[in-house]
Amino acid sequence: MNKTAKKKPKWIHKDLLGLEYLSKEDIELLLDTADPFKEILDRPIKKVPALRGKTVVNLFYEPSTRTRVSFEIAAKRLSADVINIATETSSVKKGETLNDTGQNIEALKADIIVVRHNCSGAAAMLAKHVNISVINAGDGWHEHPTQGLLDIFTLRKKLGRIEGLNVSIVGDIAHSRVARSNIWGLTKLGAKVTVCAPSMLIPPGIEEMGVSATSNIDEALSNADAINILRMQFERDEEGAFPKQIEYFKNFGITGERLKKAKKNIIVMHPGPINRGIEISSKVADGANSVILEQVTNGIAVRMAVLYWLSQANVIARRPKADEAIL
Ligand code: CP
Repeated sequence: MNKTAKKKPKWIHKDLLGLEYLSKEDIELLLDTADPFKEILDRPIKKVPALRGKTVVNLFYEPSTRTRVSFEIAAKRLSADVINIATETSSVKKGETLNDTGQNIEALKADIIVVRHNCSGAAAMLAKHVNISVINAGDGWHEHPTQGLLDIFTLRKKLGRIEGLNVSIVGDIAHSRVARSNIWGLTKLGAKVTVCAPSMLIPPGIEEMGVSATSNIDEALSNADAINILRMQFERDEEGAFPKQIEYFKNFGITGERLKKAKKNIIVMHPGPINRGIEISSKVADGANSVILEQVTNGIAVRMAVLYWLSQANVIARRPKADEAIL
C-alpha cells in the first residue's frame, strides 16, 4: 500500500442540512455510530465524555417537543454544555435576523447551532454565515434530516436492513419536510418508497425523487413492510383546499380494519405529534405494530451520532465576505 496515499476522512461535512446532500456511506456511518450510542442510553450512568468542553445551542423558531428535547438530551449524554434559546424571549422579538443571531452565538463561542425555522433553506443560509456547525432541525417544507435518520435507524433495527424494503409514506406529502428527508435517505439506501395522499397533497413531479405515488390507501398498504404516517398539517391549509378531518380519516386514516389487509408484521411509524382520529386511530398508534415511541428513543442515539461527527469535522470557514452576504 502506498504510505503517502491520503486516507479519506470518514466525515467531511461542516453541517447537516439535509439527507439530499449526503452519500449512502455518510448515512450508513451515522446509523452505524448511533448503534453503540443507543446502548449508552440503557446504562445506569448515561454519559460519555465525547463532547466535553463543547457547547451546543438549540435555536428554535417553531414549536417542538421531540426534536428539541432529544437534541438537548443527546448533547448532555455526550457531556456537552447546552443552551436553549426560545425565540419568543430572545432579541429575535426585537427584529434581529437569523444570520445576526447565529453570528452572535458564534461570538459567544458556541460550537454547534441546532436550528428549526419555518422557512425552507433557513438552516443552509445560516450555515453560510457562520464558521461553526449548523444542524437543520426542520426548515419549512424542505428537510428534517435527523427525523429521516431516526426513522431509517428504527426500521433497520426492526427489520435488519433497508435495501429492498417497501416503505409507504402516507399523509400530507406536499408540506412535509419529514417525507422529503425519508425519501432521500431511504432511496439512497435501496428501499422502494411509495407516497400516498389525496391528490392535492402530492407535489407534481414527486416521481423524479425516485418514488411511486398513489391516492389509493389500500394500494399503499398492500405490499408495505413499513408505513410512515404523517400528521395532517391543517395549519398550512391557507387556501382551504385540504379535505375535512373527518373525510381524511375515512379515506386515509390508518385504522385496525385497514391494517388487517396489510402484511401481518407491518411496522407502523409516525414522526409525531400524532393526531388521534385524524391520520391514525388510537388502536393502531398504541397497537402491537407501532414503533412510534421507539422512534423517539432512537432519536437520541441518532442525534448523538450527528453531534459526534460534526464535532470531529474539520471546520471549513464559509462565512461570505460582506459584498457576498445575502442579508
Ligand atoms: N417529529 C418532530 O419533529 O416532532 P417535534 O415537532 O415535537 O420536534
